[in-house]
Amino acid sequence: MKKRPFVAANWKMNMTAGETRAWFEAWASLAGTEEADVVVCPPYTALAEAARRAAGIAVHLGGQSLHWEDAGAYTGEISGPMLADAGCRYVIIGHSERRRYFGETDETVQKRIAAAVRSSLRPIVCIGETLAERDKGRTLDVIRLQLDGGLAGLEEETIGGLIFAYEPVWAIGTGRTATPEQAQEVHRAVRGRLAEKIGKAASGYVIILYGGSVKPANARELLRKPDIDGFLVGGASLEAASFGEIVKESIRAYKEVN
Ligand code: 13P
Repeated sequence: MKKRPFVAANWKMNMTAGETRAWFEAWASLAGTEEADVVVCPPYTALAEAARRAAGIAVHLGGQSLHWEDAGAYTGEISGPMLADAGCRYVIIGHSERRRYFGETDETVQKRIAAAVRSSLRPIVCIGETLAERDKGRTLDVIRLQLDGGLAGLEEETIGGLIFAYEPVWAIGTGRTATPEQAQEVHRAVRGRLAEKIGKAASGYVIILYGGSVKPANARELLRKPDIDGFLVGGASLEAASFGEIVKESIRAYKEVN
């Protein structure tokens, strides 16, 4: 039995409070998205507006990152308690853009996961290879290193509650999606590595998302694969209508394979 689809929007550095209000107004007019778990990750400055709009509807909120300390002299940073206070239940950790532009490493990923858990935020942990790594045939090695580094020292129970997002760097914002077969190969390897850490049964419950140029036109074929449980969507999530279509295509694929 496949898991109910989990579809998250990563708005990255887009969307003012006003645009957020308009997005939620458009979302409210859509029907048929109820049979999926839907999460929106706005920029910090739009969280208050998003929290007002998401109250009472089946959309949960997530942060796009967090600091590993709960408070202190870290100018420009946001902590787990702040995200929880702003209405977040989830937080993205280790996105490839943060690894590439802001010096995030597997070690800081591990520290941020621990901080998120302290604040009862459910981490969405991102992993993925670059094009050069894929071309050298190193994809599965890179994924394994990121998993082993990011999860080092975490308890089995913590690992079992994480959500993972496989986002091949070459597919992000490029319009070049991984084929369902390419994505499934990595998702299967992720679940296999998790099985070695927390046992096969527990690994079966872990939600593993795909991200990278997900659109209404390719969501269904991807979600039909056995180890793909949902999506982390960038560009196509900025319009409520296209994000809604991705959610609906996911629900359709889920019903087809169950
Ligand atoms: P795109 O959907 O714009 O390729 O972005 C994917 C992503 O990075 C989501 O976190």
